[in-house]
Amino acid sequence: MLSAQVLGCPQFRVAVIGAGNVGSALAQRLAEKNLADVVLLDVVPGRPQGLALDLMEARGVERHNRRILGTNDYADTAGSDIVVVTAGVARKPGMSRDDLLITNAKIVQKVVQNAIAQSPNAVIIMVTNPLDVMTYLAWQVSDLPPDRVMGMAGVLDASRFQTFVAMELGVSVAEIHATVLGGHGDLMVPLPRYTTVSGIPITELMDEATIARLIDRTRNGGAEIVQLMQTGSAFYAPASSAALMVEAVLYNQARLLPAAVYLNGEYGLKDIFLGVPCRLGCRGVDQVVELKLTTHEQEQLLSSARSVRQSIDLLMDLLQTQANN
Ligand code: NAI
Ligand code: 2OP
Repeated sequence: MLSAQVLGCPQFRVAVIGAGNVGSALAQRLAEKNLADVVLLDVVPGRPQGLALDLMEARGVERHNRRILGTNDYADTAGSDIVVVTAGVARKPGMSRDDLLITNAKIVQKVVQNAIAQSPNAVIIMVTNPLDVMTYLAWQVSDLPPDRVMGMAGVLDASRFQTFVAMELGVSVAEIHATVLGGHGDLMVPLPRYTTVSGIPITELMDEATIARLIDRTRNGGAEIVQLMQTGSAFYAPASSAALMVEAVLYNQARLLPAAVYLNGEYGLKDIFLGVPCRLGCRGVDQVVELKLTTHEQEQLLSSARSVRQSIDLLMDLLQTQANN
């Protein structure tokens, strides 16, 4: 059988852990954009195998040459260049946020350990929520240098903001660049001063009330979709966002993208993963970019960071208590 390498494609391999909505949509994006071979792993027997076969059977139509392998065995993920973690559970009735935190933390601990044991040179891209906390945990569990661990949220939040601005102004979204900082939650910090249409800040193009409405919609972008869908949460835009980050890393594109990355003094913050613009390349996070913020913007960022810090501290306490029992 002709491999992607024989056919002239770079021989990259991406492990996607969690073959749910985001994981399977991401596998599709990566293969159909011809970016990498994909190993799709899930704890549920048969699910990743069925999805992978289905995606493979689309090759006759989509005309890509990427292999998608579905598996329940981490050995099949060995040698991956990137590990994307989408495994986790969504909040169910009767479950507190703390229950979700500890449940997903246990899943993330296990999958990161297993995946990195097979691919010790990989870059990790976290997707599982609560995003910033799970990215911190993945870094701790993996024992990787912090620049090889990052979380996907800023690309999604910025894409939502860009989409809402484009819809409001009736211009192509291709002209719009948005900047969103902070944690992936209600306290995220969309920055109108750094959100532009063909280089023009939106503060020159819209009144304050309109901008405030679009910021509010961006902050609640995930909740708006959950409210509409009733079961499950967004996955097409999250998968596109994760695919963009995978491409930037695999192909060493030096792209400036917002990601949840380790801060060691930048923005006055230490020992936390939080969404900021950074340059991504084949080693992971090449550089954290520090924007000049107004006092108000900096206060908003600190408030978001405080909320993430509280969740990290809570999780560490919960894990410690469990370890002691
Ligand atoms: P989903 O429920 O469709 O898929 C989760 C998958 O994880 C399931 O197939 C499940 O079997 C699998 N899984 C659970 N435990 C596992 C384990 N120990 N090992 C391997 N697989 C395991 O959920 P969906 O919609 O795909 O979302 C996944 C996660 O991503 C959620 O935590 C969600 O909140 C988060 N998310 C984050 C976004 C972001 O911007 N960072 C955007 C969208 C979703
Ligand atoms: C979102 O923003 C659920 O985090 C997910 O859609």
